[in-house]
Amino acid sequence: MEVAAAKAPRQLLARGGLAAAAPCPAVNGGGGVVVFFAALVAGALVAACWMSASARLQVAPITPAATPTIARNAATGPEPAPGPPRFAGGGTSTNQTPSAAAPANFAPPPRPRELPPAPSPAGAAAPAARECPAYFRWIHEDLRPWRDVGVTLDAVERARRYAAKFRVTVVAGRLYVARYGRCFQTRDVFTQWGILQLLRRYPGGVPDLDLMFDCEDRPVVGAADRHHAQPPPLFRYCGSEATLDIPFPDWSFWGWPELNIKPWEALRREIEEGNAMANWTERAPYAYWKGNPNVGAGRRFLLRCNASGKRDWNARIYAQDWGKELQRGFRESDLSKQCTHRYKIYVEGRGWSVSEKYILACDSVALMVRPRFHDFFSRGLAPLRHYWPVRDRGVAMCRSIKFAVDWGNAHPDKAREIGRNASRFVREDLAMDRVYDYMLHLLAEYARLLRYRPAVPRGAAEVTVESIARGRRGLERQFMMETAVADDGAGGEGPCRLPPPFSAQELQALRRERADVVRQVEAWEDH
Ligand SMILES: *[C@@H]1O[C@H](CO)[C@@H](O)[C@H](O)[C@H]1NC(C)=O
Ligand SMILES: *[C@@H]1O[C@H](CO)[C@@H](O)[C@H](O)[C@H]1NC(C)=O
Ligand SMILES: *[C@@H]1O[C@H](CO)[C@@H](O)[C@H](O)[C@H]1NC(C)=O
Repeated sequence: MEVAAAKAPRQLLARGGLAAAAPCPAVNGGGGVVVFFAALVAGALVAACWMSASARLQVAPITPAATPTIARNAATGPEPAPGPPRFAGGGTSTNQTPSAAAPANFAPPPRPRELPPAPSPAGAAAPAARECPAYFRWIHEDLRPWRDVGVTLDAVERARRYAAKFRVTVVAGRLYVARYGRCFQTRDVFTQWGILQLLRRYPGGVPDLDLMFDCEDRPVVGAADRHHAQPPPLFRYCGSEATLDIPFPDWSFWGWPELNIKPWEALRREIEEGNAMANWTERAPYAYWKGNPNVGAGRRFLLRCNASGKRDWNARIYAQDWGKELQRGFRESDLSKQCTHRYKIYVEGRGWSVSEKYILACDSVALMVRPRFHDFFSRGLAPLRHYWPVRDRGVAMCRSIKFAVDWGNAHPDKAREIGRNASRFVREDLAMDRVYDYMLHLLAEYARLLRYRPAVPRGAAEVTVESIARGRRGLERQFMMETAVADDGAGGEGPCRLPPPFSAQELQALRRERADVVRQVEAWEDH
């Protein structure tokens, strides 16, 4: 039912106006507003979507002090606190299930072919910059609809009709923003902050450009528009196969003050330090998830995989105890101390979830319930290399989870390798330097497609560090200070080199390889 959104651009278009009624149908379950945030205390899933839900609740301007009030209003009342997980002890390597033996001859899936070396500028004295991570190649795919036709002013302006919330214009290295609507919490503020830091980091590096941005969770430019000669380019935080929206790094990379989630670079380092202290072998040998189960079909299915008297699917599922978190003022929701289980489940809520990077950073094996959305980096992840694929419906999902956990406990070396590969991906390919490089290349490639000369649009105002930071206090201010980039550029190391587009054959081969791996796992499960 959620997918319908992507398939009905027209309907969405109409709905786009109803900002408040927007996206999260599940918020009103059970006589109260269930907020789907998910992730604090012990293993968390931060559903990006909960803010959309809370958006209806007249969320006041945020200062850390105000947050508990907001959230209290949003909470249904305390949910039962998770009891202490019952761990059966460390080892579970004895698997009587015949199927568990099947993949013993686990072989890493074929790896995508190495990229051809990109041509280095002839006679360049400086050593060629190192190539960006492979997921940067998706920039070309995301912009492909405009590759031949270019981006016209008319197409950009049409994108506004999809309820774009603001317009970003860069002229001569300065940032101008025209606001068209409200974003939840400080999504827009921290997104614009991030773009501003990019401009400071690479002075003169970001060409003049003009783009529409929406900050809601789900992509909306439907496939139907694919056939429009000039589809509207719309930037947001995630995309999907069925839509044309262009994924861009979300606000949480610069921090999420309302939830006391630190800027990514700092948090990533803390998680890394936490990993060093939580030996994989000593972690609870189960698959852990905590979040709001009321958002999205996948989460409702996941609930049924929780250990019940009858059947233990090796999953330990907890509903977020929102009320309690609030009382604690998020003080104890330390993401860096949540890598306590060998397996962590990732399941989408209403849209993609920002929790993905925190889960991948854990060194645990990410059990990824087949996602329908992607953010800018997730297409760089390969099944069985960075995560274990899990089916997305019904009891099959539970079987997938049980199988994965049994398999991993029986093959701890392989399992740990998958976990380590994911955390290495996060450390190397998703370091903040690379996030900035991604923004730079995406924006530069987009700018190249413009068929008009960007000018500051009517109603836009210049955004500067001073104008954004003015009047901000508490965590908002702190996170900005922590992520402020000196305006003399990065100093030293320039951006990585953008890899070339996929050829049609490469793209097809990549998709086939991944589908084959998933099918292979399913065959093991079915045995
Ligand atoms: C992790 O813990 C196990 C069991 O306690 C121990 O055998 C192993 O050496 C530890 N590994 C590391 C890297 O500390
Ligand atoms: C899952 O099961 C555990 C143990 O029985 C229980 O504490 C927890 O509340 C359950 N989770 C949900 C979401 O019902
Ligand atoms: C983990 O990454 C390394 C280096 O990229 C690779 O050689 C290895 O095959 C990966 N492991 C798995 C299980 O894919």
